[in-house]
Amino acid sequence: MKPKFKKNILCIGAGYVGGPTMAMIAYKCPQYKVTVVDINPVRIDEWKSNDLPVYEPGLDAIVKKTRGRNLFFSSNIQQGIIESDIIFVSVNTPTKTFGVGAGMAADLQYWEKTARQILQYSQSPKIIVEKSTLPVKTALAMERILTSNNNVHFEVLSNPEFLSEGTAIKDLEYPDRVLIGSGLTQSGLQARDELVEIYANWVDEKRIIRTDIWSSELSKLVANAFLAQRISSVNAISALCEKTDADVGNVAGAVGFDSRIGDKFLNASIGFGGSCFKKDILNLVYMCRCNGLNEVADYWDHVLRINDFQKDRFVVNMLTAMFNTLAGKKICLFGFAFKANTGDTRESPAIYVARRLIEEKACLTITDPKALKNVRIDLKGIDEKVTCIDDPYEAAFESHAIAIMTEWALYRDLDYDKIYKSMVKPAFIFDGRNIIDHNKLYEIGFNVYPIGKPALSHF
Ligand code: UDX
Ligand code: UDX
Repeated sequence: MKPKFKKNILCIGAGYVGGPTMAMIAYKCPQYKVTVVDINPVRIDEWKSNDLPVYEPGLDAIVKKTRGRNLFFSSNIQQGIIESDIIFVSVNTPTKTFGVGAGMAADLQYWEKTARQILQYSQSPKIIVEKSTLPVKTALAMERILTSNNNVHFEVLSNPEFLSEGTAIKDLEYPDRVLIGSGLTQSGLQARDELVEIYANWVDEKRIIRTDIWSSELSKLVANAFLAQRISSVNAISALCEKTDADVGNVAGAVGFDSRIGDKFLNASIGFGGSCFKKDILNLVYMCRCNGLNEVADYWDHVLRINDFQKDRFVVNMLTAMFNTLAGKKICLFGFAFKANTGDTRESPAIYVARRLIEEKACLTITDPKALKNVRIDLKGIDEKVTCIDDPYEAAFESHAIAIMTEWALYRDLDYDKIYKSMVKPAFIFDGRNIIDHNKLYEIGFNVYPIGKPALSHF
C-alpha cells in the first residue's frame, strides 16, 4: 500500500518558533506529516485545544485547517523520533545563568539533551535541522554526539528562523529569505536539497539561500545584531534630539530616505525587548571575547548598553517631570508586551520600567490586550503594588500619569478627552513608542513627553 505521506517531519520544541513554523509547513505541504513534540505536556495540550499557547494573527486559522490532517501535537518524543525522517530542533537556548560564560553564553543543555534523545531512539537515517539560534559550530557538537555510538547516519543542517513575533504567519508565508546551511559533502548537499524541496512548495527558489553551515549559524546572530543596532543607533540620537529640540522622527525620516540606509527599524522607542536581540548579542559578544576579539566584542556590547541607557532615561525623565517624586502616585502602564500584536513579554522594557517605578514607591495599574497573564510572573515578589485591568479607561482612572510601553494600535485611538478628565491633575503622559498625537493631547491638557522630541509641558 502506498504510504499516506511522503515523509515524516518531527519538530522538538513547541514554542513561539516551533509551533507556527510547523503549522505553516503542514499547511503548505499536505504531502508531509508534521508532528510537534515537547517535554512540557501542558504546552502540547494547549496546542491541541482551541486556546493556543501562542498568540499570532492568522495562526488559529492555519492550525484549524491542518490539525488532525497532517499536523499533530504529541508528548511522545520517543515515538516521534522513531517515526521521523527529518527532525527540526526548536528547543530554547537561553542565556546561561551559571558557571563559565554566565550572563553571556548560550545555555546549550536542552540542545545537547535533545541530541542525545535523538541518538538514543533513532533506528533509521535522519536529517537534523537546527532551528534554534545557536553559537557557531554547534552543529559540529551535535554531529559529534550523534555519531558517538550509533550506526544510523545523521546529516545536520542549519536553517535559522527569521520570523518576527506578531507577524509570524506573514513572515513564514512570504519570507524575505530562507537560509539553509549544510556540510559541503555529497550527503550534506543531498540533505540540503531535501529541505529546499519542502520550502520550494511555497517559497520562490531565488529566496532560498544555500550556504555552508557555519555561515548560516553566524548569519542568524548577525542579522539580529544588525537589527538591534539600528534601534540603538536611533535611540542614541533620540537622547541628543531631546537636548537640541530636534525631532527624532524627522531625523530618522530624512536619514532613512537614503536608499542605502532604508527606513525600516528606525523607530525610536523605550528600547528593544523580545527573547532574541539581547540573548543573541550577548552570545555574539561572548564568542568574540572567546576568540580574543575584545574590540569587536565591545562594539556589539554597546548596542546593549544604549538599550539599557534608553530604558533608564525614560524612568529618569518621568521622575524629573513629576517633581522628583513618584511615591504614592498612581501610574498607569499602557501595554506590557515587548511589542504590539503579541502576548509575549520576554525582556519587555515594561518589566524594567515597572520595577523601577515600584522602587520609587509608585502604585501601578497595568493594561494590555494580550499580555496581562504574564504580569504576575514577570513582577514576582513586587506584584502587590500592581493592579491589572483589561479596560484602558478604567486602568487610567484617577492616575497621575500614563506611560505607553507597547505600540498597540488601540492606544492611538482612545478617547483621551475622557481619560484626561478622569485623571489627577496635572496629568502626564509619557509616550515610550511615539504613537499618539502629541499636539492633540497637549491641547486637551496633558503634559506630554515623547521620545526624542521636545516635551509639551504646560508649566
Ligand atoms: C526558540 C529557540 O529556542 C531560540 O533559541 C530561538 O532563538 C528561537 O526559537 P522559542 O520558540 O521562542 O525559541 O522558545 P520557547 O517558546 O521557549 O519554546 C521552546 C520549547 O522547547 C518549549 O515549549 C520547551 O518546553 C521545549 N523544550 C525545551 C523541549 O521540548 N525539550 C527540551 O529539552 C527543552
Ligand atoms: C526579532 C527579529 O526581527 C526576527 O527576525 C528574529 O527571528 C527574532 O527577533 P522579534 O523579537 O519578534 O523579532 O521582534 P522585532 O519586530 O524585531 O522587535 C524587537 C524589539 O525591537 C521590539 O521590542 C520592538 O518594539 C523594538 N523595535 C523594533 C523598536 O524599538 N524600533 C523599531 O524600529 C523596531
